Amino acid sequence: MRQAILLTALLLACATTTFAANDPVLYNAIAAANKIFMSLFAQGNGAAIGQLYTPDAHLLPPGAPTIEGQANIGNFFAGAHASGVAQAVFDIVEVGYLHGDALAYERSNYTFYSSTGSVLDVGKYVVIWRNVTGHMYLYTGE
Ligand SMILES: *[C@@H]1O[C@H](CO)[C@@H](O)[C@H](O)[C@H]1NC(C)=O
Ligand SMILES: *[C@@H]1O[C@H](CO)[C@@H](O)[C@H](O)[C@H]1NC(C)=O
Repeated sequence: MRQAILLTALLLACATTTFAANDPVLYNAIAAANKIFMSLFAQGNGAAIGQLYTPDAHLLPPGAPTIEGQANIGNFFAGAHASGVAQAVFDIVEVGYLHGDALAYERSNYTFYSSTGSVLDVGKYVVIWRNVTGHMYLYTGE
């Protein structure tokens, strides 16, 4: 009986423990970085997009091989832009710290638009960000 009560108390404690998600400092930092990404994407500037990633970053596009490194990742986005995705819009659903403030995750929705403004695709993604000397870089994710 005592064990059952203890177990119930433990389960309740677990159920009410939540992450401190959407910390405003983190949210604003990632929203600002995403704004730069969206602007560079609209320009088709793959080289500059690559610089938003760490040198050892991995991009995991669905249904395609893993892409590694700033130049290759930049080329991938330049290619997506050239193939007709004129604009990408990211809407943050949730962000949270993972390892002190050295790593963070972002869970978001995306919408891709053609040059005439029609919706080409909507979806969702998770990415890991790394805080390198106070600056947030994309590290891994879709
Ligand atoms: C993300 O997409 C889901 C499912 O379509 C939707 O319910 C939610 O409101 C969206 N959130 C944001 C921030 O765009
Ligand atoms: C990144 O780390 C620095 C310390 O190096 C800290 O001051 C800053 O708040 C962190 N950025 C975020 C978005 O947490």
